[in-house]
Amino acid sequence: MELFADQVWQMSYGERAAIEGLLAVVEPSLAIEIGTAEGASLRRIAARSTEVHSFDLVAPQLDLPDNVTLHGGDSHELLPRLLAELAQAGRNVDFVLVDGDHSAEGVRRDVEDLLASPAISRTVIVAHDSGNETVRAGLDAVAYGAWPKVAHVDLDFVPGHLGAERFPGELWYGLGLIVVDATRPAYFQPGPVQRERHHGGQVLALARDAIAAGGPPTPALEAANARIAALERQVAERDGEIEHHRALWQALMASPSWRLTAPLRLAKRLASRR
Ligand SMILES: C[S@@+](CC[C@H](N)C(=O)[O-])C[C@H]1O[C@@H](n2cnc3c(N)ncnc32)[C@H](O)[C@@H]1O
Repeated sequence: MELFADQVWQMSYGERAAIEGLLAVVEPSLAIEIGTAEGASLRRIAARSTEVHSFDLVAPQLDLPDNVTLHGGDSHELLPRLLAELAQAGRNVDFVLVDGDHSAEGVRRDVEDLLASPAISRTVIVAHDSGNETVRAGLDAVAYGAWPKVAHVDLDFVPGHLGAERFPGELWYGLGLIVVDATRPAYFQPGPVQRERHHGGQVLALARDAIAAGGPPTPALEAANARIAALERQVAERDGEIEHHRALWQALMASPSWRLTAPLRLAKRLASRR
């Protein structure tokens, strides 16, 4: 199954499945990707879209279908240009993957360039690595509420990962979702940004700091620590008893009555051998 077998697509299986699901529902006539890399995510977008434009500083290695147009260069220059042409032609972009410049400022610019364009009117935008602290800072800096057409923002649509064996202690992955719908009546509605749940990246950062500090206290760990403390108390009590009996024994051995009766005990032992 290509979804799982693809070794080049730089996304987790959950993220891949989420993107495939969104593409299946949106059925884009026109899609944009920022950050082509090898072309793996682009191939999947192209398979479900009529026309795709993809931006990167470097050329991809994979063979790509004819419905793909590659834009080689900086997205911060080239994307506003393409969006202006599309808007001029009265076209709408149905799907966008933001996965290019991963600096906070770079992500913010890519998202703001998209939202500022009339070509982004009924659009599903997904931003990759929304669980990464730098990328998240850029996504958080966007004033989504300033665009009434922004209907919904969930930056933990697919939560990120905290690296263990690979990239230990680093936060990567995560898919943020921004739904744009210019037809929505925005007045008197609550803001578009999801606030029902804790910010996934912050929760993972707390977990990372707790692990670095020796591990978070879990019920199992607390129970094990209590058991160890009880056993240590028992051992200390037994040590005290042993010490008490040793002292009694030494006092008895050193007593005059014990030494006076020593010949009697010797005679008894000799008699018992006969
Ligand atoms: C994480 S990779 C993209 C992975 C790809 N979407 C996938 O899932 O297979 C990020 C790509 O963004 C490109 N990139 C970084 N800054 C960029 C910029 N300012 N403009 C265009 N592309 C950029 C990099 O060259 C890199 O290939």
